[in-house]
Amino acid sequence: MLENKKVLFSGMQPSGRPTLGNYLGAFKNWNSLQEEYDCIYCIADLHAITVRQDPSMLRKYTKELLALYLAAGLDNEKNTIYIQSNVSAHAELAWILNCYSYMGELSRMTQFKDKSQKQGQNIPTGLFNYPVLQAADILLYQTSVVPVGEDQRQHLELARDIAIRFNNIYGDVFTIPEMYIPKVGAKIMGLQNPTKKMSKSDADNENNVIYLLDDLKVIANKIKRSVTDSDNQIIYSDDKPGIKNLLNIYCAITNKSTEQAEKDFNGFGYGAFKEAVSEVVVEEIRPIQEKFNTILSDKAFLENVIKDGAKKADYIANKTLRKVKKKVGFI
Ligand code: TYM
Repeated sequence: MLENKKVLFSGMQPSGRPTLGNYLGAFKNWNSLQEEYDCIYCIADLHAITVRQDPSMLRKYTKELLALYLAAGLDNEKNTIYIQSNVSAHAELAWILNCYSYMGELSRMTQFKDKSQKQGQNIPTGLFNYPVLQAADILLYQTSVVPVGEDQRQHLELARDIAIRFNNIYGDVFTIPEMYIPKVGAKIMGLQNPTKKMSKSDADNENNVIYLLDDLKVIANKIKRSVTDSDNQIIYSDDKPGIKNLLNIYCAITNKSTEQAEKDFNGFGYGAFKEAVSEVVVEEIRPIQEKFNTILSDKAFLENVIKDGAKKADYIANKTLRKVKKKVGFI
């Protein structure tokens, strides 16, 4: 770790196949901020078990996500990349912070409301407490900045509230984290239902979601079949959610403004527009997929990354945890 850089922390759940939304809302920015910060990237498997996972699938998704982090360009030498359950400080700090968070604030989390509705009668307590675990993740590393998509805004606000509350009681224990949410790409919507976020746990409708590991031809086809409207005008407007979503995808990849994109596509029909979008998406994903397969097949290398990452993360996390334990009065 370099002493003079601030810490960036973020994570992703290995709870399904990562999507274009995960890439544009998170990976892409993690990558571009790598030089500026000391970066810590977590594979949040403790988060994943807040809804029931098949153990063999969890193992598969965890390894794939690690390979994808590396294939997307995260540097394991310069940064800390690790699996959350390998560092027991997360569970320990989460318990302590549970005692400093309130039922009321957790009940207000919209993600809890959404996810708990799908659980029937028996809602796991972990699903309710999940944002506290997320706060522990962030606060353990004295994090200054957390790059995430729009759906994590409320969780980040809560992490800040908990940190401020704890510091008010015990002094400056935690750095107060800032969130980093990109201007475009922070909320990629489904291709078939562009009023709802594209999600890796949306297994019901294959055509709604672009998975990063989808065959490239399948990706192009999904974009061609995406829902638009009937007026054939390429305008960035809330009244045209399908077109707006495709423009967001295009702009997040090309770094163009939405005004510039509207100009680029002036006079295009929807068919040609979709083709242009699918070309930039496919060319963005192609090199990641090529590297992914090589990395995933190198078991010894991945084992090393896992071991090395756990050691580095454990060391940093325990410095904060020791301080917290002392502050609350543990011997
Ligand atoms: P997760 O696994 O749901 O998503 C990982 C990241 O992808 C972003 N994202 C999106 N961005 C744009 N459009 C979308 N459709 C889209 N879907 C997902 C998310 O905002 C996120 O940045 N609890 C977190 C993981 C986590 C974490 C943390 C994040 C655990 N500990 C600490 C930050 C800091 C989660 O479930 O992300």
